Amino acid sequence: MDKLLRMQEEFFAAALDGPHRSTGRQLKEVHAGLGITAKHFHAFLQHLLETLHEAGAQPDDIRDVVQRVRAIRSDVVG
Ligand code: HEM
Repeated sequence: MDKLLRMQEEFFAAALDGPHRSTGRQLKEVHAGLGITAKHFHAFLQHLLETLHEAGAQPDDIRDVVQRVRAIRSDVVG
């Protein structure tokens, strides 16, 4: 659980321009060779959307998050 929480924190920092506390490795480098497909990315984005809705995030903020996450798609997929 400790590692999962740290990863989630790093994810939001990397995705939303928050304070970076990561190892300094680039997103592309971190995800290279993990076999993440477009289908995985879509499922991931879907879960993120549902979670933000459930947490009561504002529609404008949700749109902003989705836009930012989509912008780094090519660093994660493939
Ligand atoms: C825009 C979307 C994403 C962002 C911003 C993101 C960000 C990150 C960050 C910051 C790390 C940690 C790097 C470090 O070691 O310091 C990481 C690792 C990782 N991410 Fe992502 N990620 C994204 C999407 C995904 C997706 C879609 C998957 C899989 C479906 C995924 C799977 C992983 C895995 C397996 C690791 C390595 C975990 C480990 O070291 O044990 N990521 N990601």
